[in-house]
Amino acid sequence: MTTSILFVCLGNICRSPSAEAVMRDRAPGLVLDSAGTGDWHVGEPPYGPMQQAARGRGYDMSALRARQIRSQDFNDFDLILAMDPQNLADIEAQRPRGSVTPVKLFTDYLPAGSAFAGTCEVPDPYYTRDFDGTLALIEDCAEGLLASLR
Ligand code: 4NP
Repeated sequence: MTTSILFVCLGNICRSPSAEAVMRDRAPGLVLDSAGTGDWHVGEPPYGPMQQAARGRGYDMSALRARQIRSQDFNDFDLILAMDPQNLADIEAQRPRGSVTPVKLFTDYLPAGSAFAGTCEVPDPYYTRDFDGTLALIEDCAEGLLASLR
């Protein structure tokens, strides 16, 4: 049974904390966390414009702080979800020997009926600046993830 999920992106200040917050809203009983493959923003709260867009959709991410993924995460979580294919490759490169923890794309969970169906990355709003569009995609991924756990 999947009871703990780690969301991972590059900086852990836009996409993965948003995924964590959106999923926590839908599944408060799960153990959820997020991390980045990079270390630039360790200790920082989510990016201001990302937090603002999230608040607009009802998610408070202000208590979250960025951290980097560590090898222990492969033991601590049942499932690790990456935000894009490069991110998935970067996570896989850190897999400890012998670990069989599944690492999947978050977009693998997009429901067939989603407007985003077929997308294989969560575009990085740090660069696209489309914070609300990214949240809409993350919400659809979260709905599909939730359905997969039932
Ligand atoms: P995230 O976005 O991976 O969705 O948190 C990024 C935020 C910051 C940087 C890269 C990606 N950065 O290079 O500072």
